[in-house]
Amino acid sequence: MMLDIQGLNLGYGDVQVLWDIHLRVNEKEVVALAGSNGAGKSTLMKGIIGILKPFSGAIRFRGEEISPLPPSRRVPLGISLVPEGREIFYWMTVEENILMGAYTRRDGQGVRKSLEWVYNLFPRLKERQTQQAGTLSGGEQQMCALARGLMADPKLLLVDELSLGLAPVMVDRLVGAVREIHGTGRISILLVEQDVQIAFELSSRGYIIETGKIVAEDTSPKLLGDDRIREAYLGI
Ligand SMILES: Nc1ncnc2c1ncn2[C@@H]1O[C@H](COP(=O)(O)OP(=O)(O)OP(=O)(O)O)[C@@H](O)[C@H]1O
Ligand SMILES: [Mg+2]
Repeated sequence: MMLDIQGLNLGYGDVQVLWDIHLRVNEKEVVALAGSNGAGKSTLMKGIIGILKPFSGAIRFRGEEISPLPPSRRVPLGISLVPEGREIFYWMTVEENILMGAYTRRDGQGVRKSLEWVYNLFPRLKERQTQQAGTLSGGEQQMCALARGLMADPKLLLVDELSLGLAPVMVDRLVGAVREIHGTGRISILLVEQDVQIAFELSSRGYIIETGKIVAEDTSPKLLGDDRIREAYLGI
């Protein structure tokens, strides 16, 4: 198993946000995490990458308990986060941003191969490699954030909001990229996505989180077919 979270309680300071979370991601799986604003999706992502320390519970990555490790020790193990809001460094070039993702790597040749791969995945970034990243469109910035996340050579890619605020054409392109990333057979993906239609079409399994608790867990087709979920999240 790639990721195995058990009985996780997590929050900020004294304020608990996540309650008794159980979640797993298997090898080569795309798993979606959906839920309303403020449900705790980003908080969970921060817990997995190590920005937040759990109050209690276990986070195992490929069998190893990683809760005591800081993010800088988790990334080399093979976990990478594409953060909410993209967090591009605006004053740096596109390529400098992308290369930031490889900061823990020591295999220069591997880094060059990864760079070639992400430019193949997003030719638009290659065309703009020397452009200042702050001048990219929203969709291009999302590509840049994804590319940076991939430069860590992850086994598990955490994506916090793929499609938020983007036009349909750009969303299609990013959805295609996620499929291509998954298609390599090397990378598992945990995807936070507000648009449940996109979330459960891209994934094979999913979780729904409400006010810090997992309230549903099933295969994606079943979640998409669930009347209560359709009503709550799709308004149909
Ligand atoms: N730095 C912080 N300090 C204290 N509380 C926080 C902090 N960041 C988030 N929270 C609280 O934690 C709860 C969950 O927030 P979180 O960002 O995880 O939600 P989310 O599901 O990602 O929402 P969204 O869909 O809007 O991104 C919210 O009540 C939020 O106010
Ligand atoms: Mg969030």
